[in-house]
Amino acid sequence: MNNLLAPSILSSDFLHLGKALDLLERSEADLIHCDVMDGHFVPNLSFGPPVIRQIRAHASLPLDVHLMLSNPEAVLDQYIDAGAGWLSFQYEAAVHHQRALSYIKSKGVKAGIVLNPSTPVESLRDILPDCDYVLLMSVNPGFGGQTFIPQITEKIKRLSRLRQNMACQDLMIEIDGGVNTDNISELKKYGVNIFVAGSAVFHSKDPEAVIHEMKKKI
Ligand code: DX5
Ligand code: ZN
Repeated sequence: MNNLLAPSILSSDFLHLGKALDLLERSEADLIHCDVMDGHFVPNLSFGPPVIRQIRAHASLPLDVHLMLSNPEAVLDQYIDAGAGWLSFQYEAAVHHQRALSYIKSKGVKAGIVLNPSTPVESLRDILPDCDYVLLMSVNPGFGGQTFIPQITEKIKRLSRLRQNMACQDLMIEIDGGVNTDNISELKKYGVNIFVAGSAVFHSKDPEAVIHEMKKKI
C-alpha cells in the first residue's frame, strides 16, 4: 500500500485559503486534511460543511475530513454530502462505532476512527475489521502547532502488531499532531501509512519543498 501525505489546512492562512489549496494541488500532497472542531468536544472552532463544500469545488485532491466534535453520528451525512472522501470521527465522542463506520463505507467514503492520546488501541479490537483506517492523535486535539507526545510511538507499534495479529493488512494507520521532517522517517518505520502535517508545512517558508522532503521520507 502507498503511504500518503495529508497536509492540514488548519495551519494555512484562512484569508487566502484558495492559495493554500492551489499550493497543495501543485505539490506532491496526496490528501487535504480538514480539521473540523465544534468548540465543545475540543476547545476550539474551525469550519464546517459549507467551507468543506467550497474546498471540494475548488480542489481535486481527496478530502480527509477529521471530525473533532460531539455526537458525530448525527452529522455524518452533512460531511459526506459536502464531499469528504475520507471521514473519521473521534472514538470518545461516539456511541455506536460499528454502525457509524459501516454507514460511512456504505456511502463509498473511506471510514476512519480517531483515538485521543489517552485512549488505548486495544479499544479497537472488536471494530478493527470495520475500519479503513485508524487515526492516532499524537497531540491532544484542538490546536495545530503542538509537540508530538513521545509515548505515542509505543502506541503505533501496538496498533501495527494488532493489525498484523488480526490479519487486517489493508488497514491504514494515520498519525496526526507534531509531525515534521525530523520525525516522519521514524514514524514510517513503526508502520504509519498516512502522515498529517499542519504547521510543519504551512508555517515554513517553502511549503512545497517541505512536502517534497516529507514525501521522499515516506
Ligand atoms: C489537531 C489537528 C491536527 C493539526 C495538526 O487537533 O487534528 O490535524 O492540524 O497540526 P500540527 O501538524 O501543526 O501538529
Ligand atoms: Zn486532524
